[in-house]
Amino acid sequence: MNAEALMELQDIRVRFPVKFNWLGQPRGYVHALNGVDLNIMRGETLGIVGESGCGKSTLAQLLMGLQTPSSGTLLRARAAGSWFGSGMQMVFQDPQSSLDPRLPVWRIITEPVYVQKHNSASERRSLAETLAEQVGLRKESLDRLPHEFSGGQRQRISIARALSSQPDIIVLDEPTSALDISVQAQILNLLVALQRQRNLTYVLISHNVSVVRHMSDRVAVMYLGQIVELGPTDKVLARPQHPYTRLLLDSVPQAGRSLAEGQEDRKGELPSNRQLPQGCYFRERCPYAGNGCQMPQDLRVNLSGVAVRCHRVS
Ligand SMILES: Nc1ncnc2c1ncn2[C@@H]1O[C@H](COP(=O)(O)OP(=O)(O)OP(=O)(O)O)[C@@H](O)[C@H]1O
Ligand SMILES: [Mg+2]
Repeated sequence: MNAEALMELQDIRVRFPVKFNWLGQPRGYVHALNGVDLNIMRGETLGIVGESGCGKSTLAQLLMGLQTPSSGTLLRARAAGSWFGSGMQMVFQDPQSSLDPRLPVWRIITEPVYVQKHNSASERRSLAETLAEQVGLRKESLDRLPHEFSGGQRQRISIARALSSQPDIIVLDEPTSALDISVQAQILNLLVALQRQRNLTYVLISHNVSVVRHMSDRVAVMYLGQIVELGPTDKVLARPQHPYTRLLLDSVPQAGRSLAEGQEDRKGELPSNRQLPQGCYFRERCPYAGNGCQMPQDLRVNLSGVAVRCHRVS
């Protein structure tokens, strides 16, 4: 395993059974991840982009240990434990539904350490107060219930909760897309500041290219459960090399605009992940498809230091 890597994924596949015969045996599968190779490096922010259904959240769940791979290898550095240890935490898109509505905020924030059991209520209370201060919540508000907070404040609660078990890696699945524009920037800046203070590693899933540009050191572009391009964010966004990355960025005419709002009609649709295509997965939609594209494509690092899954790029 790479010495600086916290996690290493080798040819990871995840499929979900969807059709069953009368014996209850699966007759069909949704192929959500189809050979993902990826290192997560200590202290980095790794952005994950790609259109709806390409497997981003499945990848997040896999990293969290909430999803087992159907095949492939997932290695963790010793420091990065499973989610109930101290290694990993997650912040979800919708802070409304990811917080238990019946619990006062201080108990929500300390839920991850409550599982560990070896601490008293007063220790947890003072931990909640420290974390509240770090994420910009008033400690007088800790006895209130989640619905008494605004969306931005609720996302601060989620972040404090993620920090409470001192994780190495935090997986952020669309952390600001449910928030007002003005609040988004505050939350992103908070995440950046916390990362510096605590040497955190982030995996950031986002539809929003300007969020990824602002936050990420590296970016992985996913298509139909595979990474098609992976490299330093400035390189990939300034000079996309895979035809899919180009299409994805072309469909975001203004900075700040969400990928989902792009010119979907020009891009066509993601092929079915029940019956995987032969050869290059992007072939059907690719303006450059031709000779060689009927073969499966490898993700290869080229001279520019970017990994691209396309035989035409060298
Ligand atoms: N538990 C499940 N059972 C069956 N299919 C699933 C399950 N979870 C995800 N899928 C399917 O796997 C594919 C990938 O889903 P995933 O949620 O990872 O996509 P995503 O990239 O996060 O999309 P979005 O941007 O819309 O959140 C989709 O086709 C989805 O329908
Ligand atoms: Mg998702």
